[in-house]
Amino acid sequence: MEPIIPGIQVRSREEDYINIQPIQAAGRLTLEARKALISYGDGYSVCDFCLRPFRLDKIHKPAINQFTLDLAEFLNMDEARVVRGARRAFQIVVNSLVEKGETVLVSSIGHYSLALAVESRGALWREVPLNEENIVTSEDVASKIDSIKKESGSLPKLVAIHHVDYQFGNLHPVAEIGKVCRDYGIPFLLNGAYTVGTMPVDGKKLNADFVVGSGHKSMAAPAPTGVLAATEEYAAKVFRTTKAEGDVSGRKFGIKETELLGCTVMGAPLVALMASFPKVRERVKNWDDEVEKVNYFTQEFLKIPGNKVLSELPRKHTLTKVDTTETFGKVSETHKKKGYFFTNELSKRGIVGPFPGATHAYKINTYGLSWSQIKHLSESYLDIAREYDLI
Ligand SMILES: Cc1ncc(COP(=O)(O)O)c(C=O)c1O
Repeated sequence: MEPIIPGIQVRSREEDYINIQPIQAAGRLTLEARKALISYGDGYSVCDFCLRPFRLDKIHKPAINQFTLDLAEFLNMDEARVVRGARRAFQIVVNSLVEKGETVLVSSIGHYSLALAVESRGALWREVPLNEENIVTSEDVASKIDSIKKESGSLPKLVAIHHVDYQFGNLHPVAEIGKVCRDYGIPFLLNGAYTVGTMPVDGKKLNADFVVGSGHKSMAAPAPTGVLAATEEYAAKVFRTTKAEGDVSGRKFGIKETELLGCTVMGAPLVALMASFPKVRERVKNWDDEVEKVNYFTQEFLKIPGNKVLSELPRKHTLTKVDTTETFGKVSETHKKKGYFFTNELSKRGIVGPFPGATHAYKINTYGLSWSQIKHLSESYLDIAREYDLI
C-alpha cells in the first residue's frame, strides 16, 4: 500500500490481524472514534463554541460538559476531567498534595511514570513489596506506612496503587488497600490504567479518593487521553482554579484550573474518546465474558507441556504474562531464525502482538477478541507446538 507520505506507512494491523499486543488491545478504536478523528482532526476543533466561562469542560457543542459529568458517574466519583494520559493525572495529584521532600507510597511494580511524577516534584517514592503471589496486600501497605512513619517521623502524603498491574495483569485488593489508607488518613489514588474502560470500576466502593484511567490503554481512544476522577473533598484541591494576578496587567484567568493549565485535550483525541464512550460504558458489563475467554486460552495454552502462566490463575484480567522458555524457547535455540520462528508462525496464522522473537516470558492481552478469535488463537499455539513436536 502507498505510504501516506514517505516514512508514514498506512497502519492496518487491527484490520489485518488478531492483535494481542499487551498495551494496545483495549485502546483499539471503535468505528465511531475513527469517524470522530477525521471529523475533528483540525487543531482547535472543539473550540468553535467555547463560550464564557471559557473552559474545555464547559463546552456544550460537542457535549464535553455532559461527557465530563458522565465520566464521574461512570466511575462513581464526584468530579472528573479528561487529561493527557494517566501519567498526567499522577502528576496533577502529586503536584497538588505533595511537597518537596515528602513521601508517596507506590507498589514495587508501579508504573515508572508515577515514580517520575513524584521525582519531578522533588518528593520521594517508596515501594510496597509484592507477596509471593505477586500481589500488593493491604497488610503490606499498612506495614510500609508504619515503617515510613518510624523512619521519617511522618506518614506518606499519598498512596498510589494499581488496580491491575502492568507486569502480571494481576488484580490487587484495592478496596482493602483504600480502607487501610482511610484508617491512616492518607489519600488513596487508584491507578485504573488497565481497568477503567474494560471492567466495572466503582471508585467509592473501592475506597478511592482518586481514580485514574488511561484513554489510549483501556477506553478505545487515541493518545494522549486519560481520566482523573476525584471525590468532592479532593476535587477542590486538584481542580483548584487560578488565584494569581499579573503585577503589570492586573490580569486574572477566571476559572481556569491551575494544574490542568486551563485546558487539557483540545481536539480529535478528546472527541474520539467521547465517541467511544457509549460503547465503553456498555462493554464493561461484558467483563465476565472477557475473563472466561482468557481462561479458556490459558487452559489450552497449558496443554503444551512446559508452558507456564506467570500471572495469577485463574485469570481475573485479560493482560497475561506467559512463559514458553521450555517449549518454543527450546526450539529457538536450534532454529535458524532463532525466536523469530515463533512470531513468524503466529503471524502466518494471522496473529501479531508478542514482540518479534519472543519465546521466553512475554505478555499478551486477549481483550476484545471474539470467541472464534480466542479459539483460533488457542488452536494456533497448539498447532505450532504440534508442528515442532512439542506435543
Ligand atoms: C499501570 C500503568 N499505569 C500508568 C500507565 C501510563 O498510562 P498513560 O500512557 O495513559 O500515561 C501505564 C502505561 O503503560 C501503566 O501500565
